Amino acid sequence: MTASTKQRLAAMDAESTTTLCEEPVTIGQLRITPLHSTIGGRVQGLDLRGPVSDALRDAINTAMDRFAVLVIAGQQLDDAQQFAFATRFGPIEDASSGVKERGNRLSIKEMNDISNLDADGKILAADHRNRMYALGNLLWHSDSSFKRSPAQYSMLHARVVPPEGGETEFADMRAAWDELPAKMKEKVKDLICDHSIITSRKKLGFDEFSAEELKRGAPSPQRLVRRHESSGRISLFLSAHIGSIHGWHVPQALALINDLTEFATQRKFVYQHTWTVHDLVIWDNRCTMHRGRTYDSHVYPRDLRRVTVRGSGSTVDEQL
Ligand code: OGA
Ligand code: MN
Repeated sequence: MTASTKQRLAAMDAESTTTLCEEPVTIGQLRITPLHSTIGGRVQGLDLRGPVSDALRDAINTAMDRFAVLVIAGQQLDDAQQFAFATRFGPIEDASSGVKERGNRLSIKEMNDISNLDADGKILAADHRNRMYALGNLLWHSDSSFKRSPAQYSMLHARVVPPEGGETEFADMRAAWDELPAKMKEKVKDLICDHSIITSRKKLGFDEFSAEELKRGAPSPQRLVRRHESSGRISLFLSAHIGSIHGWHVPQALALINDLTEFATQRKFVYQHTWTVHDLVIWDNRCTMHRGRTYDSHVYPRDLRRVTVRGSGSTVDEQL
């Protein structure tokens, strides 16, 4: 190898080290390693099984305002401990989205069962309604945007993960807003969209809803652009649950929503999380979207459990 080739390789090494291993950030007692240029941080050395001090809660909130997604690895939580941790951040949402019939396999009724398992812990049959229904999570969305008061934090804990696939991706809606052309910002900033769980399920061709479910699935209006109540940052508020824009013809509305979603989920805005058992991942639904990725769900169990902290009201009442 010539001296100049050696030099070039050394320079490339140095470059990749600086881009791959960003400096950890200290917030209170947390040391956080950035996972991406704008979204996601990894926290190590915490044990969330016991009581959470106000100082730790405040540090996590501050870190969430900056990173929007936190990966807290190595948490051997049971349902009660996961739930108790979440309650430190605000009131907890009901797990029911209005269209499930699996019955809750889990001991805590506010806990969302994000698994492919039935009540006996066996893999759900291929044609099971819950399996069809859960496929909606593969579309980019923000949790509970179809409720009057959409979710604040989702806290998803990994109990069993498949050997490959089944990652979760997070897109930074603040960075997407920041990069949106000025003309588009002006066009969308005051729009109100209708969100419904029925809309996202229909997108995958799932269309078997009872009259009662359709009634419970009545849409909620939400702003398309919101300002984060503690960081002050503006973000797009997109979701697969959007079915219309107030005052617009539906095809025109959905064409715009598709364009915005495509823009906002470019790879440069996305952090992909590959799960390890006992990861607790917290994301802020007010300024991110997420989606699950497929895996061999007829072969491998995947058992993730989610507790969701409620948001503070309808976004229609928020100021930009
Ligand atoms: C969720 C969700 C995606 C996944 O728990 O809200 O959308 O990867 N999960 O399981
Ligand atoms: Mn979700």
